[in-house]
Amino acid sequence: MNDNLPEYDDVADVVRGHVREQPVYCLYPDVYRRGAQDFVTAFPGRVLYAVKANSHPAVLRALADGGVAHFDCASLPEVELARRVSPDAACCFMTPVRLRGAAGTAFRKHGVRHFLIDHASGLAPLLGEIDAERAVIFARMAVHHESAMADLSVRFGAPPADIPRLLEAIRDAGAEPALAFNVGSNVVSPDAYRHSIGVARNVLSSLPFRVRLVDIGGGFPLRYPGYDVPPLADFFAAVRDAIASLPLAHGGEILVEPGRALAAPGMSALVEVLLRKEDRLFLNDGMYGVFWELRFRGHERFPVRCWRNGERHAGATARFRLFGPTCDSSDALPGDVSLPADVRPGDILEFGSLGAYSLTGRTDFNGFCSNELVVVRGGAPPCD
Ligand SMILES: Cc1ncc(COP(=O)(O)O)c(C=O)c1O
Repeated sequence: MNDNLPEYDDVADVVRGHVREQPVYCLYPDVYRRGAQDFVTAFPGRVLYAVKANSHPAVLRALADGGVAHFDCASLPEVELARRVSPDAACCFMTPVRLRGAAGTAFRKHGVRHFLIDHASGLAPLLGEIDAERAVIFARMAVHHESAMADLSVRFGAPPADIPRLLEAIRDAGAEPALAFNVGSNVVSPDAYRHSIGVARNVLSSLPFRVRLVDIGGGFPLRYPGYDVPPLADFFAAVRDAIASLPLAHGGEILVEPGRALAAPGMSALVEVLLRKEDRLFLNDGMYGVFWELRFRGHERFPVRCWRNGERHAGATARFRLFGPTCDSSDALPGDVSLPADVRPGDILEFGSLGAYSLTGRTDFNGFCSNELVVVRGGAPPCD
């Protein structure tokens, strides 16, 4: 993992040695590698990393080093990136909305064989670009469970009742039909997977044929301060139980598309306090930057620790509200955080668990956008 990024042994070396006015994002390849190994080993199926969560080449490479051999891509640039970083990896184009020609290029140039639709109207355009006989086409089913923070079924997926017809149309077109669904993001209960796999079981049981592949999507959560979730092992156990009675064709396989669970743990942000107004701190990164995901329902804060003059700074604490640097009044992080009561401008706040939905999706609003990335070889970001 290098990608020409500066490398450091330890985060203390970054705090002391990296000259910056901008926020600095620290990538921990060993944390990514270990997380990927653990996930791939424990999950009862094939693991596709959801590239959207963090598409930095160094992250993709570390996850591939940890055993991730498949990538869930939502655009041709994501396919190209994953192929470039990991030429042997398989890319699956798992979105029903694509630019014209993207599926064809992915099929011809990058050997992509797995595609997805969620409405009958999506089939003909896809068939116009690929050779159906050599493709697997997933029908995406809408499912929702109250334990998912985001209801992805609002935008994607056909109602379960429409799925048999969609799968038959895919089969009649000469492609291999398969089933996909995605229960949401940062799902707080394994029941969401029990529920959605149960819905899938009903649909698959009603078919006059069997499908081989079922993709259960992403959604596996991370524990953030104030956002307690069961360990991943509980989710995997629920999935293992639920899939046991799925009626699958010979060679049946479960696919999974984790984004957050793989991407979040291995990155931190070093953010500087620019201004203190009593219990309000103004930082050089904010809601238009790396913290944008906090706009959505779910966790409200990241684990954080404080540095001063190159050393860890602790002591009696107080609660602070955090604000970004832009002139927009909504540039305010939700919730509050506990920090040393004497925190002051020039102190560095090190936020952990920040690898998912952070680098991807930020903006350069008001001219604030840092591209300062470094690799940290040892240690790990703060995680509680
Ligand atoms: C189709 C699909 N797969 C996978 C993911 C990854 O989800 P997560 O990061 O919650 O694991 C998403 C997230 O939006 C998604 O829409």
